[in-house]
Amino acid sequence: MAPLSYEEVKALSVEQLRERFGKERSDAIAVNGINHVAWVSSDMARTIWFWSEGLGLRLTKTIALPDGGQHFFLDGGNGASVAYFWFPNAPKGQPGLTTIDLSNLASGNFSTAHGSVNHVAWNVDADRLREYRKRIAALAVGFVSPMLYHTDETETGYAASRDENTTWESFYFTGPDGEYLELTAQTPRPFTPDGAALAAAHAGHRMSKGGDDPMSLDPNVRIQDKDFFDNFSATDFDLDYPKVTQESS
Ligand SMILES: [Fe+2]
Repeated sequence: MAPLSYEEVKALSVEQLRERFGKERSDAIAVNGINHVAWVSSDMARTIWFWSEGLGLRLTKTIALPDGGQHFFLDGGNGASVAYFWFPNAPKGQPGLTTIDLSNLASGNFSTAHGSVNHVAWNVDADRLREYRKRIAALAVGFVSPMLYHTDETETGYAASRDENTTWESFYFTGPDGEYLELTAQTPRPFTPDGAALAAAHAGHRMSKGGDDPMSLDPNVRIQDKDFFDNFSATDFDLDYPKVTQESS
């Protein structure tokens, strides 16, 4: 097949995009999954507390940056790392641009700025999802969504419970800097090539108040365990980096 120019690709419909690009190509670069995703942390101690103390991920490497900052890595499973930069003078994040704006979640708006990473999802075993969700909620760092059952079969892209049409079973949560994260279990159900509902899919981020799930009641909830952070010392970790003070926003 002759290569297409950007203008030619731009002229294609979504159906034509699937037709043209929905199959494996012999000239593809051979990527073997993700090595690391790197976020920017406002507070290295807090980020490590969340991932290592809270969720048990091993701190695998720290790299001192020339400006006094740090680049650090946590074991993200299967050879992948969860990586962060701590830049001493990085600008503050802005909800709605660098991260999703939790206050817009109830209306189904979860957009972020061009070039931002909207969210990152990790595979976990389906039978651990609920336990992990409780564990993350107990850290009281930020938002934790209800359990979600993704499907192509409903208008919202979500179903009330797992059934034979479930594509992913997952929940979303925020990290210490509002980074939007997801733990997911993809079902063996094969992808359908399109998904009418996919257009509206993440509108299912609309999280209704009420229900029997105490952790899903308020999408605006941002809890900070102030007591913990007030008494938290970065020197608890054997790391050589300047102590960062917690800034409350
Ligand atoms: Fe996702």
